[in-house]
Amino acid sequence: MFDFNTSLNRAQSNAEKYTLRPTLFGTHKVLPMWVADMDIQTPPCVTSAVKKRAEHEIYGYEMMPDSAFEAQMAWMRQRHHLHVKREWIYYSPSVVASINTAIRAFTQEGEGVIIQPPVYAPFESSIRQNNRRVIKNALRRDASGRYSFDLEDLKAKITCKTNRAKLLILCSPHNPVGRVWRQEELHALATLCLEHDVNIFSDEIHSDLVYAPHVHTPLMSLNSAIRACSVTAVGPGKTFNMAGASISTAIIADAGMRKRFDAEYQRIHFAEGSVFSHVAFEAAYREGAPWLDALLQHLQGNQERLRTLLMHHNESITCKFPEGTYLAWLNCAKMALKDSELRSFFIENAGLGLSPGLSFGKEGSGFMRLNFAVPSDIMDEALRRLERALQGLRV
Ligand SMILES: Cc1ncc(COP(=O)(O)O)c(C=O)c1O
Repeated sequence: MFDFNTSLNRAQSNAEKYTLRPTLFGTHKVLPMWVADMDIQTPPCVTSAVKKRAEHEIYGYEMMPDSAFEAQMAWMRQRHHLHVKREWIYYSPSVVASINTAIRAFTQEGEGVIIQPPVYAPFESSIRQNNRRVIKNALRRDASGRYSFDLEDLKAKITCKTNRAKLLILCSPHNPVGRVWRQEELHALATLCLEHDVNIFSDEIHSDLVYAPHVHTPLMSLNSAIRACSVTAVGPGKTFNMAGASISTAIIADAGMRKRFDAEYQRIHFAEGSVFSHVAFEAAYREGAPWLDALLQHLQGNQERLRTLLMHHNESITCKFPEGTYLAWLNCAKMALKDSELRSFFIENAGLGLSPGLSFGKEGSGFMRLNFAVPSDIMDEALRRLERALQGLRV
């Protein structure tokens, strides 16, 4: 019913993934599998809503209609069993903008913000750019390659007076390690934060991209006390491949937290978003579920093909496959290459443009992140290239 088999040419559309190839990889020849968007067409319900809006030939200032927020609220109820009220929701052009706003709203200069590396790099840069202290509570990795929270270390970091920790930025599901945090894990983490007056920014941008039997637990759903100390960021950008539409939301249930967030929000002047993103947002949440269900099957197929290839090659690269997200976190330690050599191996031998593990913090050394949200024809080519490189041949 939906076409996940053929690719559109993105090289001519200013797509960051393609345009930045010479800057990042020194060549435009690599198959780009880095930045977290998909080479898969945005769902037809979204593109037709945008086309229809474009036909009304006035693109003046426009309010985001309540019907769009209601579509998201219905989505949250149906997909995540979460009841959100209209007045809790803020429009935001991007999750990273919401993170910056929250950092400014809930901490002072010099205070500490906790992150859990290896993790999406803008968490750290947002903290630094706002002159706050970066407190690292690295994830723990067991012998099987599975990641978990290190709560002992978290407690030590929170209670250390000089850290002055006031906010934790949670990545749930986690980019790049692909964990979908279980309810008990989230509860233990959030309870610790709550006991020590540390607010939580829960970045749940990947929460719709979860593979059965794993289930996303919204942080806000845990209990009313945890809900009252948290901000949750969600949006259709990753789910429906419309990150370039620049639309997401920040959800804040507690009135006191909202007041603090709102002061920064007004100061920055987020305004109302774009005429095209409003209709895209509403159409995605109202009509996009069948497309998303089909997409998840396609992504799972890509994941399995990658797993099969890696198994055939003496596990020189291993991968604990993601419970959520379309990002495979490849452990290349057995290749015994330095990070710079690993990067060269993927660019020169495999002709693939991946994200180096080090870009997620030093904890990512020896890893590469591969974005497998591609149509079947690109996946075929990526696997062919990787296989040749693992056989010692070049592309
Ligand atoms: C965890 C996470 N948060 C936020 C973003 C970016 O979101 P936005 O484009 O809405 O700022 C990404 C994109 O890769 C991400 O992986």
